[in-house]
Amino acid sequence: MNRIARFGPEQAGVLAILHGHCFASPWQASEFEILLRQPGIMALMAEGSECPVGFILIRAVADEAEILTLAVEPEHRRQGVASRLLEAASTHLQAGSIARWFLEVAADNAEARALYARHGFTVCGTRPNYYASSPTRAAADAVVMMRPVALL
Ligand SMILES: CC(C)(COP(=O)(O)OP(=O)(O)OC[C@H]1O[C@@H](n2cnc3c(N)ncnc32)[C@H](O)[C@@H]1OP(=O)(O)O)[C@@H](O)C(=O)NCCC(=O)NCCS
Repeated sequence: MNRIARFGPEQAGVLAILHGHCFASPWQASEFEILLRQPGIMALMAEGSECPVGFILIRAVADEAEILTLAVEPEHRRQGVASRLLEAASTHLQAGSIARWFLEVAADNAEARALYARHGFTVCGTRPNYYASSPTRAAADAVVMMRPVALL
């Protein structure tokens, strides 16, 4: 079982490393640091026995929250880490009176879509060509998924 803890800008370097292991277009530590200093940002990290194994970043504005990114180290996947991060985030958001949360995910990211569907998110829109093309990948559509923070 992972300990889930909130963290701040001092962990930006760790986040950049984790993010780089999980995404083709990694974010820089400086980008995380700027983000983590902004109001309304909540960041939770799942700790492994020796080092962090996953994290979630959420931005809350008024009564809505957006999942900005969520990632788990490849060798720690399918062990419930992302699920524990989502559940912990849900508890924090409910305490802060957030009513709904939403996210954008690449339409072809079957793993993440399955995860979010498992946690009650449903598709409420699409954004064509939302993810820009790169040398290794064509532009990709995003689907927007939404869920009430408190599930019945
Ligand atoms: C998506 C991601 C965060 C899932 O993390 P995880 O810790 O492996 O997820 P969990 O173990 O909590 O999975 C919970 C459920 O999600 C679904 N799921 C997760 N990974 C899946 C996969 N590879 N294939 C099918 N379903 C999957 C399953 O329903 C799973 O339950 P089960 O294991 O009992 O079948 C992880 O694969 C990841 O970091 N991917 C790269 C980054 C990414 O795409 N992030 C999302 C951006 S929006």
